[in-house]
Amino acid sequence: MEPIVISTWQHGLEANEEAYRNLNENANSLDSVERGLTVTENNPEVHSVGYGGLPDNEGRVTLDAALMDWKARIGSVIGIEHIKNPIRLARVILEDTEHTILSGDGAFTFAIRNGFEPELLLTEYSLKKYLEWKSQGSGKAEERHTDRDTFNDYHDTIGMIAMDKFGNITSGCTTSGLAWKLHGRVGDSPIIGAGLYNDAAVGAAASTGRGEECIRACGSFYIVEMMRQGLSPTEACRRACERVYKLNLLSSKNRDHKYQVGFIAMNISGEVGAFSIRSGFQYAVMKNNINTLFDSEFLIDEKYIIEDL
Ligand code: GLY
Repeated sequence: MEPIVISTWQHGLEANEEAYRNLNENANSLDSVERGLTVTENNPEVHSVGYGGLPDNEGRVTLDAALMDWKARIGSVIGIEHIKNPIRLARVILEDTEHTILSGDGAFTFAIRNGFEPELLLTEYSLKKYLEWKSQGSGKAEERHTDRDTFNDYHDTIGMIAMDKFGNITSGCTTSGLAWKLHGRVGDSPIIGAGLYNDAAVGAAASTGRGEECIRACGSFYIVEMMRQGLSPTEACRRACERVYKLNLLSSKNRDHKYQVGFIAMNISGEVGAFSIRSGFQYAVMKNNINTLFDSEFLIDEKYIIEDL
C-alpha cells in the first residue's frame, strides 16, 4: 500500500512529515503515529498540546493522549502532569500492560517507573497567559476553548491517522485540553470511541475541538460505523457532525452554542476525509511525498438561526 497520513490543524503538517518519514522507511503505523505526535508535543509554540499547552484553572498543565492500532490495542493517558510526551506513555500502556487507560497520579508513577523524566511543562508564555486570565476573570473556572485564541494559527488537539505499507492503520490523539478547564476535567481525546476509534476491517477516525460535544456523540466510533455501512470518510464525518450538533441542542438548547468540533477519517482503501461543525477547521494530508493543508467542509453557516432548526 502507498503510505498516507492525515492529521488535524496546521500543526499537523509538521507532525505528518515525521510520521510519513517513518512510514516511508517501512515503520508500522503505530510507530509512525507515535513519533509524529511527539513532534507536536515537543513544540512550545503549540499552546494546546504537550509542552507549552495552556494550563487548567489551577495553573496546572494536565495532558491527555491515546493510541489505538489495527489489532484493537489501546493505550490511553488521562490528566497526567510533568510528562512531556504522554503519547509515548500511551504506547507503553498499549504494549506492556493488561490495561487500556491510566490516569493522574497513577499514570505519573507508572511513567517514572518506566524511565520517563519529570519535566516542567508550563512555559514563560503559558504562565503569562494564565496570569492574564486570572487577573481578568472572577477567579472561577472558565471554559475557554483554545480555538478562540488568536495568538497564532495553531489550535486544539492534534489527532492523526496513518496507514503503513502493510495496509495497517493506527490512530492517535494528544492534547492539553481546554485552556483554564476545571482541574480534573477530561475531554474526548483519551476516550476511546470519542476522540479516536479504529477497526481493521473498516478504518479509523479522530476528532478535535470541544471534547464534551464529541463525547456526547461517541463521534469517532460513529464515523467508523458509518464507514462500515459504506459511507465515504467525508460523508461519515459529516453525519457525525450532524449528530454532535443535534445532541448539543438536545442536551441544553442554546447552551454554549459557539463550539467547534472537527473530525478526520480514513478507510482501509486509504481514502481520507474530514468535516467540522463550523468553518475554520483545517487538516493536513501527506501522501506521495506531498504534504497539503486543506480547509474542511463544515455544517453550520455562522449566520444560521438556531431557533429555526
Ligand atoms: N479536544 C480536546 C478536548 O476537548 O480536551
